[in-house]
Amino acid sequence: MNALAAALLAALLACAHPCARAQAPIVIKFSHVVAPDTPKGRAAERFRALAEQRTEGRVKVEVYPNSQLYRDREELEALQLGAVQMLAPSLAKFSPLGVKEFEAFDLPYIFPSKKALYAVLEGRIGRNLLRKLEPKGITGLAYWDNGFKIMSANKPLLEPRDFRGLRMRIQASKVLDAQMRALGAQPLALAFSETAPALRDGVVEGTENTPSNMFTQRMHESQAHLTVSNHGYLGYAVIVNKKFWDGLPRDIRSTLERAMVDATTYEKTIAQRTNDEALEAIRRSGKTTIHTLTPAQEAAWRRAMAPVYTQMEGRIGKDVVGAIRQEVA
Ligand code: LMR
Repeated sequence: MNALAAALLAALLACAHPCARAQAPIVIKFSHVVAPDTPKGRAAERFRALAEQRTEGRVKVEVYPNSQLYRDREELEALQLGAVQMLAPSLAKFSPLGVKEFEAFDLPYIFPSKKALYAVLEGRIGRNLLRKLEPKGITGLAYWDNGFKIMSANKPLLEPRDFRGLRMRIQASKVLDAQMRALGAQPLALAFSETAPALRDGVVEGTENTPSNMFTQRMHESQAHLTVSNHGYLGYAVIVNKKFWDGLPRDIRSTLERAMVDATTYEKTIAQRTNDEALEAIRRSGKTTIHTLTPAQEAAWRRAMAPVYTQMEGRIGKDVVGAIRQEVA
C-alpha cells in the first residue's frame, strides 16, 4: 500500500464511528394549518415522537402547526416543490391538484355514522382515491379524522331560512359552496388562518367547522350562536412528496410507515373526545349559545341541501358518489 492509500485508510478508520454518529438526520417538515391541541395537531406530534424514537434519530420530524409556514393552497404547492415533505390537508382542499373526487366527503349528510365513514375511507374507495394523487407527485399515507361539523353565526341557525343572505366562510370546495347556496347563504372561501380574523372583523358572519377547530382558534368568541348540526364531515389525507418518500432507505421508509399506522390509530381514538371536550369548553365559556335541531328542523336542513347531490355529482364523479352511497347504505 502506498503512503497516500494508507493515509486515506487510516483517516477512514479513524472517523468511521464518529462520522457515522455525526451524519445529519433526514428531515421531514410536516406543515399544517390547525392548532397543536386538535386531533390533527396531536397526531402530528405523535407521529413525530414515534418516527424519531423508532429510527433512533436518523429521522427528524419538524412539525409546523397553525399555518406557520404555509396557508392552505400554498402548502400543496410547497409539497409538490419539495419545500416541505408531509401535510395533512382536509379532504375539501384537493381540487387545486385537479383531484375533485375528495369533495364527495363534503356532501351534506353523506355519512350516517363514523362507522360508515371508516368503511369508505379504509376500504377500496379510500385506497383508490389516494392512488389518484400519485400522478401529481404525491403519495397518500393515511386518512385522519376530525369529525362532523357544526354551524355558527351571530343569530340562531335553526331553520334553513335563518341562513338567508348570511356571509358564511367555507373551505375552498365547490360542494361546500353549493351547500351554503342551497341554504340561501353567501359562501366565501377563505384560508383557515384567515377565518377567525374574518369572523372578528365581520368580513363573514358565520361559518361551519368542528368544535375543536372553532375552540382552538377562538372563533366562538365572535359567534354568539352555534348549532350542533353534524351536517357534514371534516377529515384529512396525510400526504408526502412522492419523490422524497420513494427515495428514503427502505428500512427507514417501512419504520415510518409503521409509525404512521400507529399515529393514525391514536388519532382515531382521540378525535371524537377532543371535539366533545372542545364543545364543552365552548359551552363553559358562556360566550356562545349552543343549539340542537329538532327532528323536524333537521329534516328541513336535509331537504334544503338535497339538491347539492345532483348539482355536484358531475364534478365529483357519479361513480364515486354512487360507490360511497352504496357502501354507507
Ligand atoms: C378548515 O379550513 O376549516 C379546515 O380544513 C382546517 C383543518 O385543517 O382542519
